Amino acid sequence: MDLDLSSLHEQVDTIRTAFSYIDRFKGHTFVIRLEGALLDHPLFPILVKDIVLLKKMGIRIAIVPGARARIDEILAANNIAYRTVEGVRVTPAEAMPFVEMAAFDVSNRIMTLLAEDNCDALIGNWVKARRLGVIDGVDFLHTGAAEKIKTEIIENLLASGFIPIFPNIGWSGAGKPYNISSSELAFTAAAALRASKLFFITDFGGVSADGFSIPQGVYVTPENIVSQLTAPQAKAFLELNRDREKTHHYELVSLAYRACEAGIERVHVIDGREEGMLLKEIFSNRGLGTMIYGDPHENIRPAAHADIPEILRVMRPFVKENVLIPRKREDLESKIGDYALYEVDGTLHACGALHVYPDKSAEIAGVAVDKLYASYGIGRKIVTFLIDRATKLGVKKLFLLTTRTADWFLELGFTEGDVSVLPLEKKVAYNKVRNSLVLVYDFLKSNT
Ligand SMILES: CC(C)(COP(=O)(O)OP(=O)(O)OC[C@H]1O[C@@H](n2cnc3c(N)ncnc32)[C@H](O)[C@@H]1OP(=O)(O)O)[C@@H](O)C(=O)NCCC(=O)NCCS
Repeated sequence: MDLDLSSLHEQVDTIRTAFSYIDRFKGHTFVIRLEGALLDHPLFPILVKDIVLLKKMGIRIAIVPGARARIDEILAANNIAYRTVEGVRVTPAEAMPFVEMAAFDVSNRIMTLLAEDNCDALIGNWVKARRLGVIDGVDFLHTGAAEKIKTEIIENLLASGFIPIFPNIGWSGAGKPYNISSSELAFTAAAALRASKLFFITDFGGVSADGFSIPQGVYVTPENIVSQLTAPQAKAFLELNRDREKTHHYELVSLAYRACEAGIERVHVIDGREEGMLLKEIFSNRGLGTMIYGDPHENIRPAAHADIPEILRVMRPFVKENVLIPRKREDLESKIGDYALYEVDGTLHACGALHVYPDKSAEIAGVAVDKLYASYGIGRKIVTFLIDRATKLGVKKLFLLTTRTADWFLELGFTEGDVSVLPLEKKVAYNKVRNSLVLVYDFLKSNT
């Protein structure tokens, strides 16, 4: 048998990358909103199998099915008239039993598919809702808005290995049911459960740029799909396109932006009609569709000469403890362009530098977080920023020297190396008495 070595290497690389992501997401919560229209798609059972795989890997999953298509169908079959106002269904009393029937029917179908894969799931009445009420003179009757979910119960279910399924029905305090938007519900659940990812699995390719004004710097694919938006770009998108705020794609960007504001790291809008799209999005960098994500580098800016006294102030206690090597003003003067600062309201909280060497290797150095602000995740943000900068500069080898902080860096994806990995000038200057540990960054392991 002919062995195609290059394709074998590629497969092995893919497997390694997948393993690194498994590690990264174990114990995290993903909320998945599934477009109801996908239920009849031939690949839908495979999509559900992929969701079960994620659960088996230790990711906690909650599912919110959309039921619009099924509700339309059941209302039509029973001759129940209704109207929609700017995309929102006005739900009359006589429609409500059928809306509930449709909502539970789609949830049930998903539960059956999960059962086929031997996966435990539950459907429940965990959502509190209120009446949407009268807006601009229109009474939306039994249409409601998701208010909150019973987080403690859901957390217990997730911890016990269940997949909770949320039908798009919410109940008032008095037990009155309302027809609520499943997209809004998915956002509410994701925020309450502090999910790290929120997925909108749709029957289209992502947020379309068609008819929208696109903020500067946003990449649009040849298929006219908005590829990625940082939270500030999503905000700019929403501001630029107010005249289209009733469209579904605007609503998705709006929910995604609110999700980022609520602390959800990433929101993905992906096409459920394409096989394996969910796994591709999570386990490789080759995700398609649209990703909206919080700006991880907020509050970080390049340093200027005027910042030197403040940088020295933040470093001083660590220099005294011999954790950092002392730096003179002149040392900083000549390298100030290498420093990045974390600043809030004009106060310096942390600093760090990336020094690039002629052999395209680079060093992370001078990382210091003001003790007043320790353990707020600022150190991690500065280092992540410096790693991103190294990646953008095409750095091949990233290293650092430390005496007392190795454990902390190991958790950020560094591994132990030795003096031989250092560039020549660093090798020559290596202080054998200080005997610092050399750590090297593993780009593959920490790829997000
Ligand atoms: C190490 C340092 C950058 C961490 O900054 P930070 O903003 O507090 O870091 P984070 O909030 O991202 O992480 C905090 C966690 O790291 C842990 N941590 C801090 N220093 C550590 C160390 N030396 N070894 C292992 N863990 C450490 C904290 O206990 C905390 O744990 P917790 O979340 O369980 O409470 C900061 O303590 C510092 O400036 N240290 C001195 C300078 C230094 O060592 N620089 C590195 C050499 S370039």
